[in-house]
Amino acid sequence: MTQQYRITLLPGDGIGPEIMAIAVTILKAVGQRLDLKFEFQEALLGGAAIDATGEPLPDATLKTCQDSDAVLLAAIGGYKWDTLPNAQRPEKGLLKLRAGLQLFANLRPATILPQLVDASSLKREIVEGTDILVVRELTGGIYFGQPRGIFESETGEKRGVNTMVYSESEIERIGRVAFEAARKRRGQLCSVDKSNVLEVSQLWRDRITALSAEYPDVELSHLYVDNAAMQLLRAPKQFDTIVTGNLFGDILSDAAAMLTGSIGMLPSASLGVAGTPGLFEPVHGSAPDIAGQDKANPLAQVLSAAMMLRYGLNEPQAADLMEQAVQKVLDAGYRTGDILSPGMKLLGCQAMGDALLEAL
Ligand code: IPM
Ligand code: MG
Repeated sequence: MTQQYRITLLPGDGIGPEIMAIAVTILKAVGQRLDLKFEFQEALLGGAAIDATGEPLPDATLKTCQDSDAVLLAAIGGYKWDTLPNAQRPEKGLLKLRAGLQLFANLRPATILPQLVDASSLKREIVEGTDILVVRELTGGIYFGQPRGIFESETGEKRGVNTMVYSESEIERIGRVAFEAARKRRGQLCSVDKSNVLEVSQLWRDRITALSAEYPDVELSHLYVDNAAMQLLRAPKQFDTIVTGNLFGDILSDAAAMLTGSIGMLPSASLGVAGTPGLFEPVHGSAPDIAGQDKANPLAQVLSAAMMLRYGLNEPQAADLMEQAVQKVLDAGYRTGDILSPGMKLLGCQAMGDALLEAL
């Protein structure tokens, strides 16, 4: 019997619509091969939503997402909306969507593909073989803690305030996701915090340490975030799975991404409690500087769709097909501008999509 899935598409801004179109074409082709039927519905998020409705996350979008089996997002934001007040910026739409779908676990793999080792800004011997999964807490910490705001004191001086806060239950649920993930990988988990300075990190470290008793097969270590940043660049291969809070995870996942040569290659998955739709999106942004020029790299979007199949819809075979297609185009020497190296064939976004289809 044909499996049916309702997928909400959020193409967003900048290069978003271009790379989304490629991912949809590939999804349809994979669906045909494996007898899966995708019912796609498009919704507005970010700058596109601000232009159409005045809000970065219209209620209708959240509802559509909640009613679907999975959500595939491209990217949001751009110069045009950068000067809007905080509450109306495209980024706010993304944060509200994460909170609205309760997507507390963000999985960001940073795997260096053998074909792209030379695209890294680090030496081959340092990065070759790097395969890291960053598990970032996504709906708590300083991104959401109260109080927050810019307040004026009696003297008229302004103070900017944000609060980093984690409850025991928030730490435990992200901890479990990370231990489970590490168990399926190489069995090593490094928890990153700033417990030499922050109380919130001391609680984090205590709870993660306590949890490790339930996962005797996983080897747990701890690093302060400043040292973790340094170690990621010094010797990335020492890491398997990393678990950390929202802000540290934001920063370290960009650093880990860069090890792989191009942020244009990396997918991510954001997951909530079982039975609710996950959100799948590339780690990169909307690249407004190259939007509409057929220069964007669609591979992270395609790999995000593969993560959607694997983690969101439990269709590993379909995910494998998509990931293999990406490997094949890279093996054939096809590259977009961001991952181009000497001797390789430069393709635009559209042509890369055609190459993927052919590889399928
Ligand atoms: C990310 C981004 C977002 C974040 C922004 C766009 C709100 O940097 O997904 O890493 O900080 O979480
Ligand atoms: Mg970020």
